[in-house]
Amino acid sequence: MKKIIIWAAAALGILSGCASGSGSASKDAKMDRFIDNLMGKMTLEQKIGQLNLHSASGFVSALRVTEEDENVKLLRAGKLGGIYGSGNVEYLRDIQKIAMESGAGIPLITGMDVIHGYQTVFPVPLALSTSWNPEMVEKTARIAAKEASASGINWVFSPMVDICRDARWGRIVEGGGEDPFLGGELAKAYVYGYQGRDGVYDNTDVMTCVKHYALYGGAEAGRDYNSVFLSRQEALNGYLRPYQQAAYAGAASYMSSFNEFEGIPATMNTYLMDELLRKAWGFDGFIVSDATAVLEEVAHGIGDLQEVSARSLQAGLDMDMNSDGFVGTLEKSLQEGRISKADIDRACRRILEAKYKLGLFDDPYKYLDPERAAKDVYTPEHRAFAREAARECLVLLKNDGVLPLRKGTRVAVVGPLAKNGEAMAGSWSMSSHNAESVSLFQGISEVTPATYAEGSWLFKDKDLEESILYGMIKYFAPNYPIPELHTVPQQKLVADAVAKARQADVVIACVGEVANMNGEGASRTDISMPDAQLELLKALKATGKPVVMVLVTGRPLTLNWEAENMDAILNVWSPGSEGGHAVADVLFGDYAPSAKLTTTFPRAVGQLPLYYNHKSTGRPHPDYEPYRKFTSCYIDELNGPLYPFGFGLSYTTFEYSPVTLSAAEMPLSGSVTASVTVTNTGSRDADEIVQLYIHDIYATSTRPVKELKGFKKVHIAAGQSVKVDFTLTAEELSYYNHDCNWVCEPGDFEIMAGPDSERLQKAVLTVK
Ligand code: BGC
Repeated sequence: MKKIIIWAAAALGILSGCASGSGSASKDAKMDRFIDNLMGKMTLEQKIGQLNLHSASGFVSALRVTEEDENVKLLRAGKLGGIYGSGNVEYLRDIQKIAMESGAGIPLITGMDVIHGYQTVFPVPLALSTSWNPEMVEKTARIAAKEASASGINWVFSPMVDICRDARWGRIVEGGGEDPFLGGELAKAYVYGYQGRDGVYDNTDVMTCVKHYALYGGAEAGRDYNSVFLSRQEALNGYLRPYQQAAYAGAASYMSSFNEFEGIPATMNTYLMDELLRKAWGFDGFIVSDATAVLEEVAHGIGDLQEVSARSLQAGLDMDMNSDGFVGTLEKSLQEGRISKADIDRACRRILEAKYKLGLFDDPYKYLDPERAAKDVYTPEHRAFAREAARECLVLLKNDGVLPLRKGTRVAVVGPLAKNGEAMAGSWSMSSHNAESVSLFQGISEVTPATYAEGSWLFKDKDLEESILYGMIKYFAPNYPIPELHTVPQQKLVADAVAKARQADVVIACVGEVANMNGEGASRTDISMPDAQLELLKALKATGKPVVMVLVTGRPLTLNWEAENMDAILNVWSPGSEGGHAVADVLFGDYAPSAKLTTTFPRAVGQLPLYYNHKSTGRPHPDYEPYRKFTSCYIDELNGPLYPFGFGLSYTTFEYSPVTLSAAEMPLSGSVTASVTVTNTGSRDADEIVQLYIHDIYATSTRPVKELKGFKKVHIAAGQSVKVDFTLTAEELSYYNHDCNWVCEPGDFEIMAGPDSERLQKAVLTVK
């Protein structure tokens, strides 16, 4: 058996009890004095009031404050600490004024779901992750912070860093994919972008809220809000790193998730919130529940609202979003001795500290400057960057040589997503002006002669289509007039598209998911192309014209027929405000695609969960070999994916040299450089994402067949070579062992480099 070395565990604060605990004095004595003094003057009710977060009434955008507003009533009674969901500076100014005039005169924090841009919308986060470019992602968050802060918002409910291995889960679109290492790098980038890197909030910096803490992406069967059944070891190794890295980057707050972990809802999970986040990772900000998550603990079967509120507070939750559990029951729990005054003080202090750090006590109107709202939002510079960013997020999945297209080619742009602005903006873009998002048709028709046809319904089942498109509206506004769908027969739509296709040189089919088909509460059991759209694709194929499929989606789909029959597939996700322009840039060759998948694309939904960093069974079966009895495989499908993690084509080709190591052996305290030379063997300059993986060959616990440990995006001119170096230390080779200690175990490791998670060259490193 190998000798186990607990690698730098103390320094990294991994082992329980080795980092600073919660409730201790902060590093800022002036802040501590200020808050001591303030809390000395607050009533118990006012302290509990700070722990209460509500949505701004009706998610206002054009409203002025009235005394009938529920939130105003709460504020006047000292029972509200923050509101979220409004980017209306006038409204927020009015309500902030009331906060300052009421009770202890404490300013509100003002939150918002700013997930991938504010009014200038960037590609959805899953798409952003396929750029493998944390620097670019940081810049998108910086711009989002600038626009949100100009709109009165000082706290964003982002980044969403939930790792997900199951494409059925609609919220896969909001995160950074399936890999914890890449996810960790992106989490840091978002935090730096929103909060700035200097540790001080000026009025363009906003507090982040890392969500959903924790493990929400592990929902069983990909069904939203479902239970999570991960072992603690697997959670630590496969899922928790992005949350941890965000804490190390200084994230100001976290949002507890809806799911349970180890039989305890995350919102009252002492291990997650106190032992891990605060004590092990040293997080010193506040934790807010997800919307109504405290109340939902009742349905989890834990107790009544009073019981779950008390337990959540004691476990480390500081703020209750929309449940009125804290504001409604904590006083009673205190009187009954169920909780202590110290429990309330601790949470209240954390909220006040956040407000202090934001500078709201110096100037409650710091983020409420109407002039900024008019000039800092949706600027031409921001939109130009949205186009640049989107180009880096378009994954070329197939190309028989039809792409790039020559400008001047006559194209038929067909499909129900060709003119859909909302599909460009994607999930969680409620501050965007969807109608202004550049559609695929608009972007393409600006550079080449283009005709348009809608081509098909979304689904053949009208009720299904209606519930997807209007389900949310019906839920919130039952009397909203729903337009009649399917008024033009599918056959006619297809026939029109085929006629346009016949007159064109190339067909561009814009198909896939509308925004409501992914995101929150949008799990799917069938992740193939919706039937009506597949029918359109088949009719287009039958014309014999080259068909370029532009895939709009928020999740991996099963695309076996498409992969076989389309001439090219460009996966554009929901590419944001400038989506149509960015897609045209790539289709017509102004930019060579460079994005690579961060989620595995399965062949069949029955393979899920499917992810590259899986373990080996005792009866392993090769990914691309057919069925063999008594090995770990399916009788009716291959094990391997349709498109693997890390995959994406370019307009050029790259060749990889074998991996070399600066030394074949590495002492535990040392380091080694792994190098690979990449040559651009095609005829155009392009970017390439070079990936480094490891495999721990013998360990005291089973280890994944591959784990990403490094990546670099390099620009390589045609015909040129670039040597790419990666430094490896015990840190990259460590993992959480069976006792959940972070260890580097001496022995042999495979070190692999390549263009994706499958085409890898290997070398062996021995750690002594
Ligand atoms: C979502 C969160 C979101 C919150 C507030 C919840 O339903 O899970 O991601 O931040 O609502 O809008």
